[in-house]
Amino acid sequence: MRTIDEQGYHFEEWLTPSQIAKDVKQVAQQISADYKDKEPLFVVVLNGAFVFASDLIRALEDVRCEITFIRVSSYWGMSSTGQLEFIVPLQQVVENRDVIIVEDIVDTGLTIHQLKAHMRGLGANTVSVATMLFKPAKLEYEDARPEYVGREISEEFVIGYGLDFDGFVRNLDAIYKVKE
Ligand code: IMP
Ligand code: MG
Repeated sequence: MRTIDEQGYHFEEWLTPSQIAKDVKQVAQQISADYKDKEPLFVVVLNGAFVFASDLIRALEDVRCEITFIRVSSYWGMSSTGQLEFIVPLQQVVENRDVIIVEDIVDTGLTIHQLKAHMRGLGANTVSVATMLFKPAKLEYEDARPEYVGREISEEFVIGYGLDFDGFVRNLDAIYKVKE
């Protein structure tokens, strides 16, 4: 089993590249079945989701689609609701489109909760979510429960395949779990 040491933490390989590829394929098949007669717009949430999105859209079967990118940052101000800051705003019209938001991981669901509201406010026809990983035990926003999930994970911190640790290690070809 491969291991990585990063910033004083020890990580062990959890999903190998071939396991990831199987998970991605399964997600792609579900999306392909559901969107066969639609022309979805994939909205990829940078930075983390770029690796998953790249594999996912190439694994689709017979889906005519478009892809665009946004970059957001969630922060908590004085109010009780988190605000979404658009670092790279949406560049494409989503009105009347079937939008599929692509994420690397859904944790509390705050990012997805706010992005879904944003897309609906802009007149999207439907909005669904595809994510490589989902931490159901940490979900705080029920409307952020993703429709398409590569794999569920408990509360551990993971890196690789787009997921970062302070900006680094996104380029790892496997997903690694932190070991205490
Ligand atoms: P949420 O808004 O709480 O769902 O947070 C989602 C974001 O938190 C993801 O897009 C990641 O950037 C980050 N995140 C959550 N868990 C992890 C993890 O285990 N490793 C790396 N990033 C994570
Ligand atoms: Mg992210």
